[in-house]
Order: sequence, then C-alpha cells, then structure tokens
Amino acid sequence: MSNLDIHRIKTPDHEVIVGRYCLAELAEILAGSTYAEVKLFILCDENTLEHCLPLLAGKVERMRNAEVIEVPPGEESKSVEICTRLWSALGELGADRSSVLINLGGGVVTDLGGFIAGTFKRGIRFFNIPTSLLAQVDASVGGKTGIDLGSLKNEVGLFNNPDGVYIDPSFLNTLPRNELLSGFAEMIKHALICSPGYWRAIKEVDFFELESLDALILRSIEIKNEIVASDPYEQGRRKILNFGHSIGHAVEGLSLEGDGKSLLHGEAVAMGMVCEAFISHKFGLLSEAELNEIADFILGIYKRVKLDRLSHHRVIELMRHDKKNRNGKFNLSLLSGIGDSVVDQEVKADLVIESLNFYDRRV
Ligand SMILES: NC(=O)c1ccc[n+]([C@@H]2O[C@H](COP(=O)([O-])OP(=O)(O)OC[C@H]3O[C@@H](n4cnc5c(N)ncnc54)[C@H](O)[C@@H]3O)[C@@H](O)[C@H]2O)c1
Ligand SMILES: [Zn+2]
Repeated sequence: MSNLDIHRIKTPDHEVIVGRYCLAELAEILAGSTYAEVKLFILCDENTLEHCLPLLAGKVERMRNAEVIEVPPGEESKSVEICTRLWSALGELGADRSSVLINLGGGVVTDLGGFIAGTFKRGIRFFNIPTSLLAQVDASVGGKTGIDLGSLKNEVGLFNNPDGVYIDPSFLNTLPRNELLSGFAEMIKHALICSPGYWRAIKEVDFFELESLDALILRSIEIKNEIVASDPYEQGRRKILNFGHSIGHAVEGLSLEGDGKSLLHGEAVAMGMVCEAFISHKFGLLSEAELNEIADFILGIYKRVKLDRLSHHRVIELMRHDKKNRNGKFNLSLLSGIGDSVVDQEVKADLVIESLNFYDRRV
C-alpha cells in the first residue's frame, strides 16, 4: 500500500476505508445530505483527545464543532459505571435518535462506543476511527461491541455495525511502543490462523518502522473482514479468531484483579498463543518444529508474564466463564499447522495447566 492509496473493503452493510488520506472522504460524507443536519458526538479517551482529535479536526471540518465526550484511558472504562455516565452525558448534551457518535480511539473506545451507540435510545448511528494498531487491525472491524463485568471480559455486549470505519495509519505516530506491540499480537494471530505467506511477512517486518507496517495493516484488516463476512455471528469459522484468546482473556482478566499494572490485551494474547500452540501440538495438530518456531518468535518480542501456581488455578476458574464453552467444557480454537486452524476443540483443564507450565519453562 503506497501512502497515497485508499483501499476499500466492503462488508454487507458498510465500508472499511484504509489509507493515509481516507479522512478526507469522511469529511465529504459528513458534509453531505445524509448527515448534514445531525448532531455529532466524538467519544475519545484522555490520550486520543490530546493526540488524535487535533489531527481529526484538521482533516474533517465538522469535527471542529462536535460535542466531545472523554473517558479515562484503559480497559477500566469498559464498565457499566462508565456506560451510565455516557448515556446520561449524551442525554444532557441533547443527543437524539438521529445523532451520530464518532468513536476516536483504541479498542476500548470502539468497543465501548459501539455498545453505547447500540443501546442509547435503542440505537444511534456511529463511525469508528481507530487510532491504536490493535483497533485498526482488529477491534474496529467485525461488529463486536461490549463492556466487561468486573474481571469478566466482554461479558455484556452486542453485535452492532458502524456506518463506516476509517483507518488512517498516521494516527500510529503517537502510539506508545508497548501499545504497538500489543496490536502486533493480533497481526501475528491473523497470520498463524490462516496465512503462511503472511506469517513469513510478519516475521520479517521491522514493526517500529511505521510506514513498512501499512501493507501488513491492510492485509490484517482484509483477513479479519473475510473471516467475519463468512460467519458474522460466530456460529463456526469466525471462532478461529479466538486463537490465543481463551487463555489470553483469562490471563488478562487475572491481571485486572491485581493491584499491579494490568497486562495489555495483546500481551495477554501473545502468552495465550504460546500456550494454545502448545495445546495444538499436544493434540497432534502442530509439529514440534512449528511450535518452537511460534514460541521462539513470540517470546523473543513480548515481555514475560509471571504467574504462580495459585494463579494457574484462577486462570482455569476465569476460563469457565468463556462464552465459547459448551456443556461446561473448554472449547478452544487451535492451530492445525502454521497458517491453518480448527475450531471447537474440547480441551481439559489439566492440559491448560500443562500449557501454562510449558510457557513458564520457555520464558
Ligand atoms: N471488538 C473486537 O472485535 C475486539 C477485538 C480485539 C480487541 N478488542 C478489545 O480492544 C481493547 C484493546 O484495544 P487497545 O489495545 O486499542 O486499547 P486502548 O483502547 O486502551 O488503547 C491503548 C492505549 O493507547 C492510547 N492510544 C490510542 N491511540 C493512540 C494514539 N494514536 N496515540 C497515543 N495514544 C493512543 C489509548 O489512550 C490507550 O491508553 C480490549 O478491550 C479488547 O477486548 C475488541
Ligand atoms: Zn484480541
């Protein structure tokens, strides 16, 4: 993808527009008759207010007079309490059913904002403008929105599609490095579950050289979108996107319970992918050489997550709440080789513990 190119990815009801000049198109759409008379609201967090709103307002004129609603940064904002504040704020600021919400931020803002838009006055329209790598390649695309309930991730939510998603990689210039790495974990996942060629490209890229990421960002969005299009409500194939997440979400939830700094989503997913690759190997789906290739690459990039034995059991407890479980059994998506995957694999708790021990030995 050269910098000038604009790429359109079509979904059944909206477009995902990718490119460093895509916001000019949003400016035109918002100036057109469909949105001319409506009130616009921008949802952002403290960081995207500071780093992203000026860039957006510079490119999209109507953003300059929109009402801005800010939430604290971080996963803690995906909560019922924040939702109550947001529903009230929208009401007090005069939002009605024709109003439009613009979600400007990372996955927290797009998940939360999509949920708020889907529930306020039974639903208002919204756009996603993802500003973190994770939200650009994953969270803003695919229609899943929601919030957490305590340490249970994404426990409450709905499928809700925006009117459009505008993905401008220029936003990434101000994104901290650890957040870049967090998003990179989802790109690794996309490669591992369905594209050996993309896996080779992922292994070679210098991901801190931001412009060289453009082509990979586009590839990841295409992969995510193609999988979602084939199974929008996660009845079957879409579950492959959960690779690394059954254990990853539990570890992320566990880190939210402690007093220390919680793990970033992608950091937890990176650990989850190593563990679930181990389980794939134990199932005879992935060779030992492939397991080592994956573990070496991921562990060479991400910081070590330390869990004691007690926490291993808490991981199991948290996994019992996983929405994918069936009849009380863990139901994982696993790799059947690098670049291929299978869904609905029943995994016992003992093997999850074994995989956590494997991770401990490797780091
Ligand atoms: N809906 C889905 O399909 C889906 C998929 C994957 C992840 N998610 C969700 O996404 C969330 C994680 O998303 P995230 O990693 O983007 O977290 P995030 O929204 O918390 O963003 C990460 C941090 O980067 C900051 N930030 C964002 N853009 C910035 C920019 N351009 N410059 C400077 N700072 C910036 C944010 O303020 C925040 O502090 C999780 O809640 C996860 O469950 C959802
Ligand atoms: Zn994820």
